[in-house]
Amino acid sequence: MSSKILVTGGLGYIGSHTSVELIQQGFEVVIVDDLSNSSSDVLKGIKKITGVSPEFLQFDLRNKKKVNQLFEAHPDISGLIHFAASKAVGESVNKPLEYYENNLGSLIYLLQAIEEKAKDFSFIFSSSCTVYGQADRLPITEEAPLKKAESPYGNTKQIGEDILFDNSRSNPLLKVIALRYFNPIGGHVSIEIGELPKGRPQNLVPFITQTAAGIHKKLNVFGDDYPTPDGTCVRDYIHVVDLAKAHVVGLKRMMSNQQSESFEVFNLGTGKGNSVLKVIKTFEKVSGVSLNYEIVARRQGDVIEAYADTTKANKVLGWRAESNLKEALDTAWKWEKKIRKS
Ligand code: NAD
Ligand code: WQD
Repeated sequence: MSSKILVTGGLGYIGSHTSVELIQQGFEVVIVDDLSNSSSDVLKGIKKITGVSPEFLQFDLRNKKKVNQLFEAHPDISGLIHFAASKAVGESVNKPLEYYENNLGSLIYLLQAIEEKAKDFSFIFSSSCTVYGQADRLPITEEAPLKKAESPYGNTKQIGEDILFDNSRSNPLLKVIALRYFNPIGGHVSIEIGELPKGRPQNLVPFITQTAAGIHKKLNVFGDDYPTPDGTCVRDYIHVVDLAKAHVVGLKRMMSNQQSESFEVFNLGTGKGNSVLKVIKTFEKVSGVSLNYEIVARRQGDVIEAYADTTKANKVLGWRAESNLKEALDTAWKWEKKIRKS
């Protein structure tokens, strides 16, 4: 079977790290990205690490005609990793239709083009731990019931999984793995690629590194009165390279027909929860920078605690996260310093 893989959103944060792992594992990568949340410079970083400049097509996946043309021009694509989506939770509340159109419209066009091919096809979907909301039991297994989504963004991940499940039943040639990411952080150890948030970051780690770099005066810690050991929220922070590697394992599983069902779901996390204060303290140790932070009111919509039970991914995929919080934060800080210099 051909090892040409389409990576949508392949110049984005997780997509670029995954493209590197795919290339290093011998796959031929074709990237589609409209650069709405990334830059073509990322291609240079991928080339520096791998020695390969993957084919890059810049267009918006909401253009159905272009999606079809892509599959016509590349009849030998046998798998797809679908990262392309809009991902700002707060923005999705104000622009729900844009989020449903972008995150679900492009998914449907891709699946229609794949069905048209009428060939064996492996599909990996970027899902999120956000589908669990505040889970009743910790750590969170894949069996945990999905809670009503708190935001249109979260809902696009739940509906996206449903669309893929339904299509995997109606199209016997389609194999799907939905990967539910916990909190990806850090960058590649080479410091050639990393997270490039546009505008003011909403996520904790880029806000920490930008504050340490002097871009923000202080970091707001959203609440310290939660029922957790130190009162701040707990999350499962996973190094993005570990996350990227799981995609390659998942793809190989589908391509070698090892799936037990045509639609499978896996949690991707470390299995360990860390509080906001723990992340701050670890960052201070790793960087040697004392962070200016202040405890402020809770942020609306935050779950108290979320960390993964990774047993299924460990056993079935034979994958586990290898980096710890310190190592991941070290790469995040080195990357921040590098992009500030250039
Ligand atoms: P990102 O914004 O860095 O990457 C997404 C890429 O897709 C960007 O390069 C963007 O330009 C591109 N894109 C968006 N819409 C497009 C369109 N219509 N056509 C073509 N390209 C388009 O985001 P990321 O952090 O790398 O996330 C990748 C995926 O993982 C997303 O689906 C996201 O929802 C999901 N996810 C992310 C996180 C996280 O914390 N980063 C957690 C869980 C799930
Ligand atoms: C982590 C913790 C904040 C910023 C989000 C999305 C989720 C998923 C991952 C895509 C929380 C606290 C943060 C700050 C803070 N994305 N915090 N000060 O909330 O777990 O999840 O990203 O699917 O859908 O909602 O991640 O990094 O925003 O926050 O105190 O300036 O850090 O309150 O406890 P979160 P996060």
